[in-house]
Amino acid sequence: MDKPLIPKDEFPIFRNNPSLNFLDSAASSQKPESVINAMDEFYSTTYANIHRGMYKLSEQSTNLYEKAREKVAKLINAKPNEIIFTKSATESLNLLAYVLEPKSYAVSVMEHHSNFVPWQFMAKARKKPISYIDIDDEGFFRKLPKAGLYALSAASNVLGTINNIHGLCDEIRDNKGISVIDATQAVPHGKFDVKKEGCDFTAFSSHKMLGPTGIGVLYAKEGILDNAKPFLFGGDMIKSVSVEGTEFSDAPYKYEAGTPPIAEAIGLSAAIDLLEKTGMENIRNHEMALTKYAMESIENIKNISYYGPKDPRKKAGVISFNVSGMHANDVAYFLSAKNIAIRSGHHCAMPLHRRLNITGTARASFYVYNDKSDIDALADALGKLNFR
Ligand code: ALA
Repeated sequence: MDKPLIPKDEFPIFRNNPSLNFLDSAASSQKPESVINAMDEFYSTTYANIHRGMYKLSEQSTNLYEKAREKVAKLINAKPNEIIFTKSATESLNLLAYVLEPKSYAVSVMEHHSNFVPWQFMAKARKKPISYIDIDDEGFFRKLPKAGLYALSAASNVLGTINNIHGLCDEIRDNKGISVIDATQAVPHGKFDVKKEGCDFTAFSSHKMLGPTGIGVLYAKEGILDNAKPFLFGGDMIKSVSVEGTEFSDAPYKYEAGTPPIAEAIGLSAAIDLLEKTGMENIRNHEMALTKYAMESIENIKNISYYGPKDPRKKAGVISFNVSGMHANDVAYFLSAKNIAIRSGHHCAMPLHRRLNITGTARASFYVYNDKSDIDALADALGKLNFR
C-alpha cells in the first residue's frame, strides 16, 4: 500500500502528469506502456484482417487474435469457445438481452444502467414480467424472486459491494433460471473463476483492466447459445449463404460479425499478461488495503459519510461518499483543482441512488498504480472542505 503494485512510471500518463492523483479507475483504467507498445507493434509489423487471407500476415494476425481469446479464457477459467469478443461490456449485455428470450426477468436495483435498461426495455417490448431485486443498506441482494433470467452485478460500481455470486448462481439454477453476471468491476480486480462461480453468462470490459477501449468480453457457457438467434449479421458469422438461406457459425463466431477489434484484442492480451505477472490475488489485497485506509481516512473527516459495506473484505476498491451541504459535482470540481480525479453523479446507476434516497455521490476508486499517497492527497483536500 505504501507504493503502487505496478510502478507509476510504467504508465505514460503519469510520466506526463506527475502530480496527478488518479482515483477514477472504476470508470476506466490508465494504460501501461506494454499495452500501448503491443498495439503499436502489431499495427507496425503484423496487421492484416483475420480469418480471411491465406497470406502470412493474415495468418499471423489471426493467430494473435485467437491467442488473445485463449488468454481471456484462461484468466476466468473458461474454454476459448466460451469467449465472445464484443465492442464493450455494454454490448455484451445488450447482445444477451436481444438473443435470450426468457419467460420473466429479475434485475437488481443496484445494477449499472447497462445491466438494467436492456432487460427493462426487452421485458416491456415482449410483454414479459420483470421484478426488481432489492438490496440492504450495504448493497447485499435481498431475496431473489422466481424468474427465468437474473441480471446481477458481481461488484457494485458505486457501493463496491461484493455479493456472493457463487451462492446466488446456485439459487438461480435451483429456480431453473439463467444467470447473467456483470463482472465489469470484479474481473479486473481479483481472481474471478466462472466455473467456480457457476454462472451462465458473464460480461466485462477491457478498458477497466489496463486494456484498450473498443473491446468487451462475453463469457457464455458452452452450448448455451446453440439455439439462440444471432445478434449482428454479416461476414465471418456464417457457415454458408445462398439465396435459399443462411447457415450460421457456432458461438463464438456466430456473435462476431464483421471485422472484430483485432488490435484491441492484442492490447487486452498484453494487459492480461501484466495483470497475471502482478498476481490477481496481490491486486485484490492491495486494493483491499487501500480501501480500508481510505475508509478510515474519510471517517475521520467531519461532515463526510460514505456508502456501502463497512467491511473491506466485502467491498471492491470503490468508495462513494457525500459531503454534507455540498453537491457531489462541486466536490469533484474542487478536487480537480488539486489534480485529484474522481467521478461524481449517479455513476450510471440511477435506480440505486433512488433506492438510497440520494441524487448522487462522489466516488474514488483504486487500482494497481495507486498507493497511500493518493488517498492522503484525497483526505487532505477533503479535510480542507470543512470550513463551516
Ligand atoms: N461504468 C463506469 C463507471 O462506473 C463508466 O464509472
